[in-house]
Amino acid sequence: MSDNRYITFALGKGRLAKQTLAALEKIGITCEEMKEKDTRKLIFVNEELKLKFFLAKGPDVPTYVEYGAADIGVVGKDTILEEGRNIYEVLDLGFGKCRMCVCGPEYAKDLLKRHELIRVATKYPKIAKDYFYNKKNQTVEIIKLNGSIELAPIVGLAEVIVDIVETGSTLRENGLTVLEEVCPLSARMVVNQVSMKMENERITKLITDLKSVTEEDA
Ligand code: PRP
Repeated sequence: MSDNRYITFALGKGRLAKQTLAALEKIGITCEEMKEKDTRKLIFVNEELKLKFFLAKGPDVPTYVEYGAADIGVVGKDTILEEGRNIYEVLDLGFGKCRMCVCGPEYAKDLLKRHELIRVATKYPKIAKDYFYNKKNQTVEIIKLNGSIELAPIVGLAEVIVDIVETGSTLRENGLTVLEEVCPLSARMVVNQVSMKMENERITKLITDLKSVTEEDA
């Protein structure tokens, strides 16, 4: 009976979605419809395998999965931590690797060391708060921004930032540096808690298959 049900994937738009589709292709899961370049369609179906796929903004992926609008999601660990949804994180897909870091000008190292009341600009207030308040026991003022976070210390909005560092080139080109590492990040597969029970066999096979191809690449 359960084989008649569609399993729905929510993928974070952009590079992560492309890498996810490439990994799925390796285990024989394709969705030709999704590759059409100029399509305005939002949801794609593989009738044969009884699968559906949709693209969403990264931070919305855990929301779709928590409410069961998607059974499975693929999203960055940064988003999982920031959103704090009730979902199962079942697999590190090994791509989209980067780090969450405290960054700023060299002189800010001293301010951090002396536990001064500094301002921290970030797109990730929850992660920043958890790091400074719970891990470091340091009181700071957190300022939420929505992008181009590196601007904040340059124009004097904040002393440091908490942001994603991948190649480090954005920091270098703006005279900033990594001061502390918060945590490593990568793409993760997440699953709705009820789906994990109801579709355990299909989802467990998917995890096992994906594990074997992602480990190959690691
Ligand atoms: C991210 C992140 C950094 C940059 C890091 O920004 O916020 O700014 O990439 O990458 P790098 O270490 O390889 O330079 P993104 O391009 O996603 O845009 P945003 O500034 O709008 O957040």
